[in-house]
Amino acid sequence: MASQGKTALVTGAARGIGRAIALRLAQEGINLALVDLSDDVDDCASEVRKLGVKAATRLVDVSDAEAVASSVAELADELGPISILVNNAGLVKNIAPTGKMAVDAWETELAVNLSGPFNLIRALVEPMAKAGWGRIINISSVAARGGLHFQAGYSASKNGVLGLTHTVTLEYARYGVTCNAILPGVIQTENVKAMPKGIRESVEAMVPARRMGEVEEVAHLVAFLASEDAAYISGAEIDIDGGTRLNSLTLGSQSELRERAEAMARAFEE
Ligand SMILES: NC(=O)c1ccc[n+]([C@@H]2O[C@H](COP(=O)([O-])OP(=O)(O)OC[C@H]3O[C@@H](n4cnc5c(N)ncnc54)[C@H](O)[C@@H]3O)[C@@H](O)[C@H]2O)c1
Repeated sequence: MASQGKTALVTGAARGIGRAIALRLAQEGINLALVDLSDDVDDCASEVRKLGVKAATRLVDVSDAEAVASSVAELADELGPISILVNNAGLVKNIAPTGKMAVDAWETELAVNLSGPFNLIRALVEPMAKAGWGRIINISSVAARGGLHFQAGYSASKNGVLGLTHTVTLEYARYGVTCNAILPGVIQTENVKAMPKGIRESVEAMVPARRMGEVEEVAHLVAFLASEDAAYISGAEIDIDGGTRLNSLTLGSQSELRERAEAMARAFEE
């Protein structure tokens, strides 16, 4: 896919989907700038180096615009110009009906899931445009489209990511910079695997594919969007959810979705 020797920055690379993305891009010969709050990101860097590429890490909160700007500059000095950005870091802070949602949880979800990608794009998109080549991949969620019971902050932040994706495309596609959003359904990360078995089974029963996604499946899609072959794809919203999105279009499944959300809210409180 001819991305060898380029440098990608992946946020939230310490575990889960972000870690899988870092390892997959390393297989393409891409050097990795890895950002996370957790120093487990250093383990990811060690694995990445075993694949024969360079890696550097920074412990940064993506919602801190100043820290992001200075870390991005340092990482580019260390590894060379960053031409691929994967905005993956994200969190769910609160699972509760909107009227009972904690204000600080709402603010944190917006700050990390939406301002985070903005901060990274702001720091990187102009140099990409000047160089005439760039790839920005934003990890949104199925929750962006249909809403999600008891996750107003998460759903709103992930929907905001779509608006950001569209606008960056309008402004920068002419300079060879693409910007796309990936909307995963439920993906089997360490956290998801730790959910009570009953909840996991009820989630799987709702997915037309009757299984959760694998982190590597998301990583393959990121690798494609980061490649030369994806040059004419920009502003796209790409579902990777085994057909889950279609459930929110059928009225029959709404009560099941609410029951599942209530079970998740209870598990979150425990
Ligand atoms: N797993 C799923 O089922 C699923 C589904 C849809 C969307 N997503 C999205 O995919 C992305 C990755 O999810 P995951 O399941 O791998 O999550 P995860 O919780 O396993 O990993 C997220 C990583 O982001 C880091 N992080 C959190 N806040 C940060 C911050 N402020 N600054 C820097 N790093 C921070 C965490 O330390 C962690 O390493 C998220 O944006 C999530 O919303 C996940």
